Amino acid sequence: MTKARTFLRIWRRKEKAKSNDPFPMPFYGVWGSVARFAAEILASDFMAEMVRRRDEHGSHGLMGELDCATLYALTRWQRPNVVVESGGFVGMSSAFILKALADERLTSAKLYSIEWNKECEHGALVPNALRTQFVPLMGRVEDFVKRGQLPSSIDMFLHDSSHRYRHMLWEFGQFWTRLRDGGLLVSHDVHFNAAFPEFIAQTYVHDKKTGLLNAARTSHYEWGRWGYMGFVIKKAV
Ligand SMILES: C[S@@+](CC[C@H](N)C(=O)[O-])C[C@H]1O[C@@H](n2cnc3c(N)ncnc32)[C@H](O)[C@@H]1O
Repeated sequence: MTKARTFLRIWRRKEKAKSNDPFPMPFYGVWGSVARFAAEILASDFMAEMVRRRDEHGSHGLMGELDCATLYALTRWQRPNVVVESGGFVGMSSAFILKALADERLTSAKLYSIEWNKECEHGALVPNALRTQFVPLMGRVEDFVKRGQLPSSIDMFLHDSSHRYRHMLWEFGQFWTRLRDGGLLVSHDVHFNAAFPEFIAQTYVHDKKTGLLNAARTSHYEWGRWGYMGFVIKKAV
């Protein structure tokens, strides 16, 4: 056999092996799922009712429709059992997380919602039918963390408390370590400062020679931004 033929045979074998490899992005499906679930909730009576409640309360500081839909969709896609949110306030975000848990029939799942403002009616907008899985925690996130009063292992975290750069980075770091492989970190208002992209940058590893992604050492599966929401799926390395 000539050298050229041998080379061709080896090359074909390698190409065949490559095409049999599993798809290298196991969480790529998140994009399609989120698009579908978000479209579903945007057109729903639930959305119309929550927007009515929000506007009646006064919409200042509350999530807009698109961000609520993204949050709902991410929660449905992930099907978490333990969720923590910081900055629960009157519960616009809580309502959409709880609705997603209900629509996925995750009856034993819990949402721990942290809010420090004693003046606000924590979770007031959450419909009664969704309250059984709502665990309101009154106080500062920092104090709950310091006293070890939060679950050490969680499936999903939503940041929506203080959007100061340092505080955002601190919360991301704190809750990232509690997330399991495939766990989801979500942040509202990622456009306020560079905290979210900087945090994501820390989860990337690039090959020094080629500049390409070193997938084996990178500690996320997917990340993205849609509207004012950012999300990242943790990969335990
Ligand atoms: C933008 S609002 C949250 C809106 C809420 N997620 C919603 O969609 O209805 C931010 C809230 O975070 C609370 N907050 C700010 N810093 C906090 C901290 N360190 N610990 C707990 N809550 C905090 C504020 O009191 C405020 O109610």
